[in-house]
Amino acid sequence: MSRTPLVAGNWKLNKTVAEATELVEGIRAGTKDLEGVDLVVAPVATALHPVAAALKGAPIGLAAQNCYPEDTGAFTGELSPLLLADVGCTHCIVGHSERRQLFGETDAGVAAKAQALQAHALVPIVCLGETLEQREAGDTLKVCLGQLDASLDGVTVDGDRLILAYEPVWAIGTGKTASPADAQEVHHALRERLREKHGAAAADAVRILYGGSVKPANAAELLSQPDIDGALVGGASLKAETFVPIAEAAVH
Ligand code: PGA
Repeated sequence: MSRTPLVAGNWKLNKTVAEATELVEGIRAGTKDLEGVDLVVAPVATALHPVAAALKGAPIGLAAQNCYPEDTGAFTGELSPLLLADVGCTHCIVGHSERRQLFGETDAGVAAKAQALQAHALVPIVCLGETLEQREAGDTLKVCLGQLDASLDGVTVDGDRLILAYEPVWAIGTGKTASPADAQEVHHALRERLREKHGAAAADAVRILYGGSVKPANAAELLSQPDIDGALVGGASLKAETFVPIAEAAVH
């Protein structure tokens, strides 16, 4: 079963509108002849609308970094899938470890957001991963599979409607990467759990991205693992010169 690789740039809390527009123009120009890989960028919320305009006609998806699972109402400060779709989003990251750690996001909250996104035909990129403490205690698979089950409660598991991202917390923004073999072990376990709970077709079609200090120098080796279907890139997505080579490395 072949899955088209996908490389997504998580810009986190970075880039003014002018900087975001410049970056996406650089990515667009640098990948215009690239085939065999799907691309997504996730700008800060204030840049979503202008980046959507800069992406017009380009085969590059647009993701928000978070959402709230209601359409409209008295939810000061929040953004809904309805409004994200309205500005041109195609995807939304949910359950990123920074949100889980700094903003108290729970698996149940992640599942509610993913369901709300799917109801508006947006594709959730559901993130999960263990902390260093959990890895050192030998709990990596237990933690990741537990997060997978709970974060997908009520979510449609289908290759066109869901993307997963395994991001070991200790590898995010630290320069430390999981070895390709360690990452593959987790990706494989996640896929087998999908197979068990959601059937072979879903398990074979859902893309599972790796995230955590992915850069041009380590991308090819990570992305050549059989169950690693792409990358969720933070720091290295902030410059076209580092994001584009990662996108190129995903093509096989
Ligand atoms: P990093 O971030 O590439 O800077 O480690 C990845 C992420 O948080 O998605």
